[in-house]
Amino acid sequence: MLEFKEVTKKFEGNNTPSVHKLNLKVERGEFVVFIGPSGCGKTTTMKMINRLIEPSGGEILVDGVNVLKQDAVQLRRSIGYVIQQIGLMPHMTVGENISLVGSLLKWNKEKQKERAKELISLVDLPEDYLDRYPHELSGGQQQRIGVLRALATNPPLILMDEPFGALDPITRDSLQEEFKKLQKEMDKTIVFVTHDMDEAIKLADKIVIMNQGEIVQVGTPDDILRHPANEFVEDFIGKDRLLESRPEVTRVEQIMNPNPITIEEESSLKEAIQKMHANRVDSLLVVDGAGILKGYIDIEMVDSNYKKKSYVHEAMDTAKYAVDKNSLLRDTMHRMLRRGSSYVPVVTDNNKLAGIVTRATLADMVFNTIWGDETEDITAIE
Ligand SMILES: Nc1ncnc2c1ncn2[C@@H]1O[C@H](COP(=O)(O)OP(=O)(O)O)[C@@H](O)[C@H]1O
Ligand SMILES: [Mg+2]
Repeated sequence: MLEFKEVTKKFEGNNTPSVHKLNLKVERGEFVVFIGPSGCGKTTTMKMINRLIEPSGGEILVDGVNVLKQDAVQLRRSIGYVIQQIGLMPHMTVGENISLVGSLLKWNKEKQKERAKELISLVDLPEDYLDRYPHELSGGQQQRIGVLRALATNPPLILMDEPFGALDPITRDSLQEEFKKLQKEMDKTIVFVTHDMDEAIKLADKIVIMNQGEIVQVGTPDDILRHPANEFVEDFIGKDRLLESRPEVTRVEQIMNPNPITIEEESSLKEAIQKMHANRVDSLLVVDGAGILKGYIDIEMVDSNYKKKSYVHEAMDTAKYAVDKNSLLRDTMHRMLRRGSSYVPVVTDNNKLAGIVTRATLADMVFNTIWGDETEDITAIE
């Protein structure tokens, strides 16, 4: 799909090359994240793919053809591009912005409208947003539109340069999730640049760590977390003692409690309160008959609805914030801490509840890490 061979870029007037003898293969459908400190050459590398910058040495092949042998304008239009500054045209509606590249490619108007509707539904924004102007949208919504614009003509390859960098952490979190899902469904090849390791770990199939114009390490998030190539990578990951000392524990599934306390949505509030009491918890995960996660209900919701409502589904919160059972533990921990959540439900692909990770689960893990086998002795003494 995409290949770098000994690619070098030295800007006029600079003493050292900004990118030096870079070699890398990106497979179709792969999500590759370039990461490294500011000025290490990430943007330059990315811009050489669609010829916004031309390499001074080596070759970049897109589908086997050297980009320098392709028409620059056609090449650029055939590759999606999303940047941090979003770059929506302020005088054009959201719909027109999404259709921009389609217009340049002379798609007919009907086809473009259909496509814009299709796309906006993918990110859960209402269709009438297509007629609004960018300034009427929040930052997060604008960035969604920036992403949709890159997807509009369905390019197989999309370049994204710190696309979520300017968003607040919560918005960034949800956009990352949304985007990762979209990418899986649509089978796109993504080259993504970031300086945020959490983001890289969460999104990447393959992480490329750069420093001073060179690749320092390439690997899956797991590879890199478990076997950092050198001290630079270690520092970049940020030392996380808890996980460092338990290298075999990397996935949420390995530490989750597989028996969360649940209640069916058709149950009564009375049953809910009894269940909370019996299990000494203040919140229950709500599931349907098939075990699909529907939301949660806590003691406050029962209390404030007890007189007016009878059933769990009438009083529950349908927020289904959850993590996949294959998520990296590190990522999940950081998110729980960032959101200040006391627990997070764990689900399988189809949103079926698989378990729960609570702060207590994390505390157990720290305890086991610190005391390990000594725990048995403590129990023996008691
Ligand atoms: N147009 C340019 N002219 C001269 N030097 C440049 C130019 N663009 C980038 N550089 C230099 O190349 C290096 C890599 O920059 P860049 O690729 O933007 O880094 P990153 O995206 O990783 O922060 C930096 O030292 C930067 O100053
Ligand atoms: Mg950059």
